[in-house]
Amino acid sequence: MERKWWKEAVVYQIYPRSFKDSNGDGIGDLRGIISKLDYLKELGVDVVWLSPVYQSPNDDNGYDISDYRGIMDEFGTMADWEEMIAEMHNRGIKLVMDLVVNHTSDEHPWFIESRKSKDNPYRDYYIWRPGKEGREPNNWESHFSGSAWEYDEATGEYYLHLFSKKQPDLNWENPNVRREVYDMMKFWLDKGVDGFRMDVINMISKVPGLPDGEVQTGKKYAWGGRYFMNGPRVHEFLQEMNREVLSKYDVMTVGETPGVTPAEGILYTDPERHELNMVFQFEHVDLDSGPGGKWDIRPWTLADLKKTMTKWQKELEGKGWNSLYLNNHDQPRAVSRFGDDGTYRVESAKMLGTFLHMMQGTPYIYQGEELGMTNVRFPSVDDYRDIETLNMYNERIVENGEDPKTIMEKIYYKGRDNARTPMQWDDSEHAGFTTGTPWIQVNPNYKEINAKVAMEDPNSVFHYYKKLIQLRKQHDIIVYGTYDLILEDDPLIYAYTRTLGKEKLVVITNFSSETPIFRLPEHITYSAKQLLISNYDVDEKEDLYEIRLRPWEARVYKLQ
Ligand code: NOJ
Repeated sequence: MERKWWKEAVVYQIYPRSFKDSNGDGIGDLRGIISKLDYLKELGVDVVWLSPVYQSPNDDNGYDISDYRGIMDEFGTMADWEEMIAEMHNRGIKLVMDLVVNHTSDEHPWFIESRKSKDNPYRDYYIWRPGKEGREPNNWESHFSGSAWEYDEATGEYYLHLFSKKQPDLNWENPNVRREVYDMMKFWLDKGVDGFRMDVINMISKVPGLPDGEVQTGKKYAWGGRYFMNGPRVHEFLQEMNREVLSKYDVMTVGETPGVTPAEGILYTDPERHELNMVFQFEHVDLDSGPGGKWDIRPWTLADLKKTMTKWQKELEGKGWNSLYLNNHDQPRAVSRFGDDGTYRVESAKMLGTFLHMMQGTPYIYQGEELGMTNVRFPSVDDYRDIETLNMYNERIVENGEDPKTIMEKIYYKGRDNARTPMQWDDSEHAGFTTGTPWIQVNPNYKEINAKVAMEDPNSVFHYYKKLIQLRKQHDIIVYGTYDLILEDDPLIYAYTRTLGKEKLVVITNFSSETPIFRLPEHITYSAKQLLISNYDVDEKEDLYEIRLRPWEARVYKLQ
């Protein structure tokens, strides 16, 4: 397998609004990030993926961009950005920027022009259609509730917005749109950025005719995903982008691709196809969603997690490359969702880190994950800020009259603001995030869970993550070894091996508060073993053939 720096790297995601505020306005900013680069250096990460910092009216916290070449005022200036990237590079940290080009803000100059008249030169930059029998052009539902179409008085037509109505979809069929996007990418690459995380990039090509989706009973709109995800021209567009832009730089790319299967994942990431380096698949974070989508919550099972992760590990092996993540700014906190954020918070956070970082692929750490930060339960919906959450609440309670308590439980479990409460730096007011009033409240558990406490405690999640990252630098097998699931049917233990030449890793993780027995399968033998990492004290002499695991225990052995 070809060696690549981005396969060997660990990525840290910064959600700038919630990371660190330097000027007391309650909103994280670039100078705040600069002040915390030594912290990231100490953790040992190689790459920062920075969620959008471009000019934006913030309908969706920066994922609605009104100027791709300008920095959002709340975040600072271009000079601050230049200092930030220089200071990252000084510390050997690369910078991956978010590329949001499925849609712009409705306040982007292109859209302002586009909506003026049907013959405006920018009209065709977006997807406009006349209504059908007094209704929207089709029945697609927006990701943020309601119709995916908005009627515009000025010209009497509707425009498509797969997300909020302030996020009109760009028309990628138009070569001028593509050229503008490629020029903008070159602008940032020439300023030194080391790659892009591409927002919902598998939605840029829509099926011609924009056919209706199938409406589920009791619903007004339909999920149109099959007509806009992995659409007919998406690979052609990405190959063009690669040819025109990416191939000219040594950068890393990761596509956000909801609904992607491993077969499609290979199409995006097979190096011979010259598209992307890796994609974010969603199957493992959709295990607790029912047919009704994200808010149709059901328990996930370890059996399904094994099936899903193993499928991705095996199917991409030698063909594409995986990205590894358990949370990000759109997902609940990993320790609350997959671990135990009560009694065994520290143990389970470390176990989850082990589970993920030992797989094949590039691991992503979401800010605060390295502290074992948890979900939050704010008492009132007024404490929430996320447009997806608020639109859902509004639709279900105000329009459908559903029970507020049930809806709040859904928000506590799945709401995106779980991940967006401010980074917990210390035990001072507002967790040291800001000296002002934070744009969203801090999680009340910040006195116990914060970076200062974690850095001082050698047994913290932080120090454990630091070690996970260092191990990756010391053992090629962690990056390049092949993966095999063992103990497939065990209901509590997730265990797997990695193999490279004569070396083998055995990764043992207990996904429960119980104390199950791990038994090494007979086909695995060894003459020497080395414990690489564990989240409990382990007697080095203990043999591997039978181990009684402690709650949420994790161990990694290297065998020879
Ligand atoms: C995915 C982003 O991660 C999410 O935060 C955003 O709301 C949508 N794409 C729309 O840009």
